[in-house]
Amino acid sequence: MPESDIAALKRAAAARALEFVQEGMKLGLGTGSTAEAFLELLGERVRGGLTVICSASSERTALNAKDRGIPIAPLAGLAPLDLTVDGADEADRDFNLIKGGGGALLREKIVANASNRMIVIADGSKLVERLGRFPLPVEVAEFGHGVTAEGIRRSLRECGHDGVAVALRQSGDAAYRTDGGNVIYDCALGSIAQPKRVADALKSITGVVEHGLFIDLATTLIVAHTFERIEVLERARNA
Ligand code: A5P
Repeated sequence: MPESDIAALKRAAAARALEFVQEGMKLGLGTGSTAEAFLELLGERVRGGLTVICSASSERTALNAKDRGIPIAPLAGLAPLDLTVDGADEADRDFNLIKGGGGALLREKIVANASNRMIVIADGSKLVERLGRFPLPVEVAEFGHGVTAEGIRRSLRECGHDGVAVALRQSGDAAYRTDGGNVIYDCALGSIAQPKRVADALKSITGVVEHGLFIDLATTLIVAHTFERIEVLERARNA
């Protein structure tokens, strides 16, 4: 599919998510190109008189929002948020996600955790049978990160993922740095049969700050397969 069509589908999913936004809401703003499509549409509504207050999941999103006249405030003063709208690198029909392709996974997870509801917006290519084709980002403290990477490999092996390429993300000639000053290892798992097990194992490694598996966080998936077919999946309460 041409890039321009994918961009239009992201915008269609974002437009559908905007229907969930109500006057006076406290919103969490995601990061990435799909989240940016939402920001653009939200900005138009705010300039048209809608009152909302938002927390951003990255420096990039905060700047972008301010440029569009969307008010931004620190999360601590706003939580709990009514709703977060964010993109994803992959989503399955059990509402599990891989996020962090844009490097904002830690703040995205903090914001999502502080929200009563998380709507994930995506074009159809992001909806998968099983997570893992997209390399799983793991954010790691810079100090001794090579040692932590060994721990990640060992831990993945124990979860049945042997010989996984665990690669330090680069930005030009240097290691990529997150907004929090950490580095990211991208783990090419291929197919994740037990996302919760992998999530728990990664979380228990000293030096791992956060991983990109979002389990039990998304409450709604809005997936634009085509302009005529925008699927809205709602997670059953307490499921
Ligand atoms: C940012 O860290 C990510 O979690 C993004 O939400 C994810 O990579 C989706 O980005 P796109 O909407 O650009 O595909």
